[in-house]
Amino acid sequence: MKENNFMKEFKKKGRLSSVLTSVSVIAGMIPIFVVMLMVGFLSKGNVVTGSIWALGALICLCQAVKAVFYALAIWKAHDSAYSSLAEIRLALIEHLRNMTLRFFQKRKTGDLANIINHDVERVELYLAHTLPEVVITNVLLAVIFISVMILDWRLGLAMISTIPLVFLAMYIFNKLWTRMIEKYHQSVKTMSEDLMEYIATIPAIKAFSKDEKKTEQVLDSLHAYIAWAKKATIGEAIPMSFIMMLLEGGMIVLTILGSILLRGNQIDMVKFILAVILGGQFSEAFARLMSFEHSKAVFKNTMATIDSVMGVEPEEENEKCRDLPAGDIEFKNIHFSYDGEKKALEDINLVFQKNTVNAIVGPSGSGKSTLANLLMGFWKADGGKITIGGKSIDAMHERDLSALVSIVQQEVFLFNTSIAENIRIGKKDAGREEVIEAAKKAQIHDMIMSLPRGYETAVGEAGARLSGGEKQRISIARMILKNAPVVILDEATAAIDPYHEYLIQKAISNLGKNKTLIIIAHHLNTITHADQILVMEDGRIKARGKHEELLKSSRMYQAMVKAQNEVDGWQIKEAKAL
Ligand SMILES: Nc1ncnc2c1ncn2[C@@H]1O[C@H](COP(=O)(O)OP(=O)(O)OP(=O)(O)O)[C@@H](O)[C@H]1O
Ligand SMILES: [Mg+2]
Repeated sequence: MKENNFMKEFKKKGRLSSVLTSVSVIAGMIPIFVVMLMVGFLSKGNVVTGSIWALGALICLCQAVKAVFYALAIWKAHDSAYSSLAEIRLALIEHLRNMTLRFFQKRKTGDLANIINHDVERVELYLAHTLPEVVITNVLLAVIFISVMILDWRLGLAMISTIPLVFLAMYIFNKLWTRMIEKYHQSVKTMSEDLMEYIATIPAIKAFSKDEKKTEQVLDSLHAYIAWAKKATIGEAIPMSFIMMLLEGGMIVLTILGSILLRGNQIDMVKFILAVILGGQFSEAFARLMSFEHSKAVFKNTMATIDSVMGVEPEEENEKCRDLPAGDIEFKNIHFSYDGEKKALEDINLVFQKNTVNAIVGPSGSGKSTLANLLMGFWKADGGKITIGGKSIDAMHERDLSALVSIVQQEVFLFNTSIAENIRIGKKDAGREEVIEAAKKAQIHDMIMSLPRGYETAVGEAGARLSGGEKQRISIARMILKNAPVVILDEATAAIDPYHEYLIQKAISNLGKNKTLIIIAHHLNTITHADQILVMEDGRIKARGKHEELLKSSRMYQAMVKAQNEVDGWQIKEAKAL
């Protein structure tokens, strides 16, 4: 969305508001002329009492028209501003929906939330409040100028004699303003991002009493904000007073010229006074117009920020293939880094054969979840190729890939609606029976039934009561409904007691036979039976094979099994059925 397109759209909507505003301004000007006319008549002594009353009534009427039309204009302006606002927000959200995770990785979430909330709000401020004022002021200036030119063209020119100087000054100051506002804007952004992050990390900070660095950073950005706010205010006040001075200059020229003309009897007293009154209003209105320049600069800056999101094109999707290829999954020479520096995956070559059970094990940070993220298409590999049934996932539509592969993530995200709805995400048109059936298979039915409102319990209500393992089983129920041929289970890292572990295992075995299973396991007891186990370390696959083979061949695997045995005092000797 370019500023121009958007402004065009808004101006179209705001046209009625401008017309109403103009009527209001003209109605407000009429009394001045009428009074002056009356003064003229009075000075000549030919006025009857009735016409003074009529004059009073006319002024009242004009004021009423001015007030009513002003109110209507402002209402219309708000109306169009809010609908434009909603449109920008929707456009932003729609745009964000199409962006890849990579984009969100680069932009802080605080920054994006800030744009959707505050920057868009600032657009409203300009469109609903400033823009109508700009229109009012422009109409007022035009009416005054024409009036004074009609009174006496020499006075009219005198009144605007300093305007070129004002524009020159504006031109110079504008550059300064824009830069300052950019800096100020930046400091507001940094401050709110830091604050948001700070608030989000307070629990961690408290838990580890590691506040020093974070607090300092927040304080620094607060100080920077205050400094720029001060500079922006001073930077605005000084040029503004200078411009005001130049404008007053026009009034002085008008008064001097008017006096000369009056002395030479070229104009009468009434014209002179009227010109001086109008001249005063002119410079006041002009000063107001100048003060809007600042708001305009803020507005432009805001639009540029919005554009910095809207301007980023979603990554091109390649040619789509509609038929879903189920088959072996293959990673060929996959390389990947989240930040372009540190490798999260290096030289990954693997095959998950169709309808086999595969396990990935390895220390924290070794790249297990990353591998799953790439297969889900959440991120794109920097090098190499991932294929399913021989077709590259890059050539697949997001929807097709997601129909093919489903995942239970390490941290399960539940929406704040009922548990039934959360399960139904797996299959939108699933009936109640189907949902219950899936929950039963996922070994979570009994738990749900123990909640106060069963399947209708809102996740928020139950949230505190749902353990990581329970959330994972809800997610497994989702997956059972979805019935995708490839299933990834990224086990929760948190220690899960043997009973829950048993339930999860049982839930997985209920997923059905014909599936390619990829289990990222933290608890080795669950995977001894797998057809293939991959041992990962530092983004690489260090060993692969079946449990018994790895017990013999991989030191690392041996150590992991030993550690696991020590933790739960279990002996993993024989393969358990999955
Ligand atoms: N969103 C992200 N942005 C940047 N770096 C990330 C991101 N997610 C993971 N990483 C980094 O990539 C590396 C691999 O992380 P990954 O989450 O794949 O590990 P993991 O094996 O799943 O670990 P865990 O057992 O703790 O779940 C780590 O160094 C991690 O810090
Ligand atoms: Mg992980």
